[in-house]
Amino acid sequence: MAVEGIDPDRVPAHVGCVMDGNGRWARARGLPRTEGHAAGEAAIMRAIDGALAVGVAWLSMYAFSTENWRRPADEVRYLMHFNEGILRRHRDELNDKGVRVRFAGRRDWRVPKRLLRHMDEAAALTAGNRRMTLTICFNYGGRAEIVDAVRALVRDGVPERRVDERAIRSRMYFPDMPDPDLVVRTSGEYRISNFLLWELAYSELVFTDVLWPDFREEHLYQAIREYQGRSRRYGGVLR
Ligand code: IPE
Ligand code: IPE
Ligand code: MG
Repeated sequence: MAVEGIDPDRVPAHVGCVMDGNGRWARARGLPRTEGHAAGEAAIMRAIDGALAVGVAWLSMYAFSTENWRRPADEVRYLMHFNEGILRRHRDELNDKGVRVRFAGRRDWRVPKRLLRHMDEAAALTAGNRRMTLTICFNYGGRAEIVDAVRALVRDGVPERRVDERAIRSRMYFPDMPDPDLVVRTSGEYRISNFLLWELAYSELVFTDVLWPDFREEHLYQAIREYQGRSRRYGGVLR
């Protein structure tokens, strides 16, 4: 689909989303924070549809961080149940749209078994799809991912002289995933909050004040336009 002002030949291959502002969206309406998460569900689907419409091949969404366990127990419990519900409600639709769903993060004892089962089922159902890969970062931390890669290096007995970027990259959660070209964070917060630390080295960052439940396809398109106006130099000079 052609979207006004977007060059179809320079669409970012990989877009990351830090979905933030659900709690503030709810508070502004006098609602409990969890209602903000609930309202974020439709925004997740709009972001996916927008990415599909312009031909983004990889979309990564930050759903729950390794630090989010610090939240009140009832909010954490809500989020576990909520994420399971999203998979139940949308996995067939995602499958029909050609989306491959994968999960990045730690599968530790705090993640309910039932949620893990739904994650495995959604991943298995959609494993053959190639139109877009949706990586849901759940119980994900950029530092934890690097720690896990270093552990794998040690486990594999890699000698010091063989430790290089390739050796580390090949031990990240999804070595086949290209680094994000563009990362969008909502809600007017200007930080990374432990999202894809290794992979973000040269990503273009776009921050918007819109709260996640208000996120529309057009906000994604606007971020892509901004991305297309940037000059990526990777430490070099443009000739
Ligand atoms: C993002 O919204 C959702 C998650 C981090 C799970 P928040 O819940 O962080 O919303 P704010 O930042 O408190 O408004
Ligand atoms: C980042 O949002 C994590 C997710 C979007 C899942 P947070 O709301 O947890 O980040 P901080 O606490 O504002 O840095
Ligand atoms: Mg937040």
